Amino acid sequence: MRRVHREAERLLVGGFDGADELDTDFIDRVVASGGEGEDAARMVMANNFLGPKRFGKMFPRLDPFRPPDQALIDLGRAMREALPENPALENSEIPAGFTYLGQFVDHDLTCDETRNFPVQDDLELIKQARTPTLDLDSLYGEGPKRQPDLYDPSLPPSEARFRFGTTVPTPDANVALPNDLPRKRDRGAVVGDDRNDENLVVAQTHVAFLKFHNRVMDVLPRGEEDDGSATFTQAEETRKSTTFHNARRVVRWHYQWLVLNDFLPRIVDPNVLNDVRTNGRKFFRFNRAPFDGEPFMPLEFSGAAYRFGHSMVRETYDYNRVFTEAMLGLLFTFTGNGGGAPIPSNWVIDWRRFHEVGRDDNRNFTRRVDPKLIPQLHELPNVRPNQPRSLAVRNLLRGSSIGLPKAQDVAEAMGIQPLTQEQLGGGDGGDVGPVVRRHGFHRETPLWFYILKEALVQTGGKRLGEMGSRIVAETFWGLLKGDENSFVSRRPGWTPQEDGLPARTPGDFTVADVLRFVGEINSIGG
Ligand code: HEM
Repeated sequence: MRRVHREAERLLVGGFDGADELDTDFIDRVVASGGEGEDAARMVMANNFLGPKRFGKMFPRLDPFRPPDQALIDLGRAMREALPENPALENSEIPAGFTYLGQFVDHDLTCDETRNFPVQDDLELIKQARTPTLDLDSLYGEGPKRQPDLYDPSLPPSEARFRFGTTVPTPDANVALPNDLPRKRDRGAVVGDDRNDENLVVAQTHVAFLKFHNRVMDVLPRGEEDDGSATFTQAEETRKSTTFHNARRVVRWHYQWLVLNDFLPRIVDPNVLNDVRTNGRKFFRFNRAPFDGEPFMPLEFSGAAYRFGHSMVRETYDYNRVFTEAMLGLLFTFTGNGGGAPIPSNWVIDWRRFHEVGRDDNRNFTRRVDPKLIPQLHELPNVRPNQPRSLAVRNLLRGSSIGLPKAQDVAEAMGIQPLTQEQLGGGDGGDVGPVVRRHGFHRETPLWFYILKEALVQTGGKRLGEMGSRIVAETFWGLLKGDENSFVSRRPGWTPQEDGLPARTPGDFTVADVLRFVGEINSIGG
């Protein structure tokens, strides 16, 4: 952001030639509104001209791998788990709540807005709707001044708390609870990123983080209000001292901490993570032009490695005392997209079944990380006509469309030994192997498929393997290092203890601590 601000300031002060490309009306309006508005103007310019949200490649010199679409479609279709779910394919090391924390994190970091699957070789033209930083823009939106809909209208911006939707009482949970996303009349969610209303578990995760902010507001000392008279830099500082800005900083840093210390060590090889944290990144580099120190979203991460999470999704969840065998299809239904919102009270989640907050006997686990997706993910709802409904097919076509390299080239660039053709073409008891071999994918392998296969071969599906771990760990660490407001950049020695929120282990902070602090672990009881 440092360069964006500097550059935006230069443009604002010095003038520039490309005014016709700007939304000048909007800028006039926000500049006229003073203080914060000026920042907004700078951001608009920055977004329009400098592309702080842009995509890029970790391995820009590698050739795109674009096999025939039909071969990718065949492979995607074959990556299908059988029903009923085989208990042997569970991953008893990762509670299922982490699948949806992972999805929530994805929605904070990356959103490719491309429709269809065009061949895209100019990365600047791929539209990214999120800032590639762990800043929770999917939660806070543009803040209470610029996006007031997300916040309680009775409070000034300096005291901003989130709004909620109310659940509808049912005979078996006969109470209206503030445990739904806030919604418009058409039932669509009023959230920083609509995708957090894509299924009920990610929606409830979003609700938990909304509540986390509000609880932090409860416990923080009050700050100063910004009167808008300060200069840009002073205004920044003043705003940081308001209660809202303090709370947002506390929430963001605790979230960054738990992503780094609670989530990542479960999904990547801890040795790779330690190596990246101790010895730095080898492949995710953004120091030189055109990035000049500003991180971008690596397509190897967003288009392949981090999509590993799709294989952790279960078909059935033990959701709460009422719905002990909730099918994923139903979890899609109880959202704005599925038309089932606002949610009935008996669909408020019991977090004990998803995270380590008690009730070990009944916890759901993720499916193992392997080249299989449950049938429901091959039949996505809300897909435009003539578009593939299989998420596996979509991921493979997306990888080709954005020009990801083949996995063997990435292995060579990383200096690691690739999986053998026998490993890649092996059947693992299903029907993927023959399709892989028929299309030669055991010799030249799409990156997403390889990452999943590698996880299975190297860890038995417990977590990502060597290449997947490296791409994911370097991306997270790089995005934190490149964000000048992250705790890693601003205060590398910071620990959660400094802010004094209660934690089971002093000095640490986990997802379970968020849920305990919010205090709504199982709102409908049982
Ligand atoms: C029920 C759960 C989920 C559903 C239904 C879902 C669905 C989708 C869909 C439809 C896309 C767009 C596919 C395309 O056209 O390219 C997508 C993209 C993606 N998903 Fe998921 N997903 C789920 C869970 C997850 C999880 C658990 C993770 C990671 C831990 C994840 C990571 C990603 C990433 C990184 C992208 C690319 C985002 C972008 O840059 O646009 N998803 N997902």
